[in-house]
Amino acid sequence: MKKRIIICPPTYFDIQYEINPWMNTAKKVDPSGALAAYTSLRNTYLSLPVELHEAVPEADLPDMVYAADWGYAENGVFIPANFRYAERRREANVAAELMQKKFGFSIQRLPEGIFFEGHGDLVETPTRFFIGYGFRSSFEAGAELQKFVSNPVFSIHLINPFFYHLDTCFAALGDDVALVNKSAFAPESLELIEKSFKEVIFTSDEDNKVMAHNLVIVGNDLICAKGISEQLKKRLEGLGYRLHEIDTVEYRKGGGSVKCMSFEF
Ligand code: ARG
Repeated sequence: MKKRIIICPPTYFDIQYEINPWMNTAKKVDPSGALAAYTSLRNTYLSLPVELHEAVPEADLPDMVYAADWGYAENGVFIPANFRYAERRREANVAAELMQKKFGFSIQRLPEGIFFEGHGDLVETPTRFFIGYGFRSSFEAGAELQKFVSNPVFSIHLINPFFYHLDTCFAALGDDVALVNKSAFAPESLELIEKSFKEVIFTSDEDNKVMAHNLVIVGNDLICAKGISEQLKKRLEGLGYRLHEIDTVEYRKGGGSVKCMSFEF
C-alpha cells in the first residue's frame, strides 16, 4: 500500500502568537516563500509512490500547515491531538472531521487533560514508537497511545525549549539508525535512545538549526530541509537514501519543517 500523506496549503499561515521559541510575531511569514516550499514539497511527493491529499485550510488556524500534529491514525482509528495550547485546539476537530468523513476513520479521543500532539511528538520505527514529553505531549500520553498500538511505546523526556517536539530533534531511519540532537534530551532518555539503535548519528549545530531531523522517508527517498551540512548529506546518501531538499526557511519561523508539514497515515 502506498504511504498516504496529507498536507495543508499555507493560505492562512502566519505567526500570530508565540508558543515556541522559534516564533516571533514581529517576524512574519513571507507568503510567496511559504507557497514555494509547499509547492516543492507537493511536487516531490507527487513524484514518489505517495497517495497525496491536500486539506482545506481554515482562516484563524495559522498553524494548520503543520499537519503532522493533528493526531495519530492506525487500523481505522484516528486519535486526534489534544493540543496543549488553545490556539491550536480547533485543528484537532477539523482533522477529526476530515479523517472521519473523507477517509472513514472512527474517532477515539484521549482523556481531557492528557495532552497529545500527534506525530509532532512521535517517532516510529517498524517495531517501536518513541513519544516525546516535557513541552507539549503529557508523560501520560505514552500509556494512552499504548492502548491502541501493539508495538512498544517508549517515552522520551525533552528538555530544550527550542526542540519542543520529538520530531524537531530525533529521527529514526528504520530500526537501526537514529539521527539525534544531543542538546534536546534528558540524560536518561539519551541513554535509552543510544541503547535502542545500532548506530546513532549525533548532529551538528548547523544541522540542528535547520531541523535536519524533521524529515520524511518514502522507501529510499528522504525528504528534508535544504541547508543540512554536506557531511550529513554524505552520511545519509551513504546509507542508501536519495535526498530531496526543501527550502523550509519560512516554516521554521513557526518552528517546523518537512515532517511537521506532513500528516502520514
Ligand atoms: N507553531 C507550531 C507549534 O507550535 C509548530 C508546530 C511544528 N510541528 C512539529 N511537528 N514539530 O506548535
